[in-house]
Amino acid sequence: MRPIGSVTPIRRDSCGCGGLGGPDVVGYPGTWFEMSPGPHEGGEHRGQLWHGRFATGPAEELVAFTESLSYDQRLIHSDVACSKAHVRGLAAAGLLTDVELAAILEALDAVDAEYRDGQLVFEASDEDIHTAIERRVTELVGPAGGKLHTGRSRNDQVATALRHHIKTELGVIAGRVIELVEVLGARADEAGTDEDAVYLPGYTHLQQAQPVLLAHHLMAHGWALLRDVDRLADCHSRMDVSPLGAGALAGSSLRLDPQLTSAEAGFSVAFENSLDATSDRDFVAESLFVLSMIGLHLSRMGEEIVLWTSAEFGFVILDDAYATGSSMLPQKKNPDIAELSLRGKAGRLIGDLTGFLATMKSLPLAYNRDLQEDKEPLFDALDTVRLALGAVAGMYRTLRFDRLRMAAAADNPLGAATDLAELLVGDGMPFREAHALVGELVRNSIADGVPLVDLVASDPRLGERGVTLLAPGASVRNRRSPGSGGPAAVGGQRLRFEDRLESERRRWSELS
Ligand code: ARG
Repeated sequence: MRPIGSVTPIRRDSCGCGGLGGPDVVGYPGTWFEMSPGPHEGGEHRGQLWHGRFATGPAEELVAFTESLSYDQRLIHSDVACSKAHVRGLAAAGLLTDVELAAILEALDAVDAEYRDGQLVFEASDEDIHTAIERRVTELVGPAGGKLHTGRSRNDQVATALRHHIKTELGVIAGRVIELVEVLGARADEAGTDEDAVYLPGYTHLQQAQPVLLAHHLMAHGWALLRDVDRLADCHSRMDVSPLGAGALAGSSLRLDPQLTSAEAGFSVAFENSLDATSDRDFVAESLFVLSMIGLHLSRMGEEIVLWTSAEFGFVILDDAYATGSSMLPQKKNPDIAELSLRGKAGRLIGDLTGFLATMKSLPLAYNRDLQEDKEPLFDALDTVRLALGAVAGMYRTLRFDRLRMAAAADNPLGAATDLAELLVGDGMPFREAHALVGELVRNSIADGVPLVDLVASDPRLGERGVTLLAPGASVRNRRSPGSGGPAAVGGQRLRFEDRLESERRRWSELS
């Protein structure tokens, strides 16, 4: 028995048969695997919750293969909270005395505290965190602990604890996304939205198209992330349903009140159908989708930083603290966060989502053990996105934009070709005709090596008015339609962006 930290409580071999002489804790940090007891004849395997039906204990391979305690222990706080709601429900139904209720509530809190302090000792018979909690509560309160699981199955218990946990985690992720959006907003303010604002080429097909304000570009990522925050809230609303009281699949003969336990556990409503409540994991799949979508949005930002930090673009200089060097090439400064946290990790998130969708496919009603496979992809995706968001926010907060490099690229006169065509449209020329006329000027400019500005100046339909549009920064200042990338529109957009951000902040502070 030796506590080894809050994330790696030790497992004690309940039958005393030990392992095969190796260390009792092996594996990677935060998890462990241990030699488990082999099969035993009669009476020796009472650790398992379901021992009554079985003449022998479980095979070592079964224990090692089916355990989930190594990764589901992070549900402990949620399981304790939901178990407390459950026992309050049992007391309300007259199934526990006040004394028993108080003892079990106290024991549940004690187990939570033991885990937090790295003092909770796991037994070889603890299949998952749910069985470990019940076993430890029973040790602490005596036979009355055996009443904890009255009217409850691990099937409704695990679905409830998981929903409870995800609700909290969605709030954490939303907070991180909001922080990143705040960084983008602050960088947009620095870049400006007025006539002197920083601008750069806008691209389609990764070919220069029309110049836009940098603030406009940064807010494009911000709006996408704000939709992710909205999606997180939407996902949260469907998460907020308690399956507690659904039992193994069909409820119970006891007079339980799922509405009461739902409220006690902090859910808005209780389930309607016990089969559905215990067997569907659409809420996990949905969480994985929302997390993947955030990952995809980050990957687009990451790819952009990879391009922008290249010598060819040179739009961005990363802070040294957010870049890495090369083991061989002394001159290198690499955008690893952009590559890894943003671009590369998106593949992993998509894998978490698609892998779990495949697990869920065709599962018959109701609970199936396959569903235990929901946790690892979910936890992996939550961890990945949480860490990525922090890294990206830091990188974006500290990077520098090279406004001169951006302006030089954006002032390519070809970027104003559409402005020239729209000038002619203002004179009454059909757009298709104007498009062909300007296209021909561009073709001649390239073919004959004559600057476009000279051809525009000597064309009577364009002349000086056209030359003005080709001046540095003129094209972006000329863009004025609502939602467009010029100063006339971006200032208003910035205000609405801030309003939207504020309403998301408010919404999440009410949800948590
Ligand atoms: N660890 C299991 C899970 O996550 C708990 C449910 C086990 N239920 C059962 N009927 N064996 O799904």
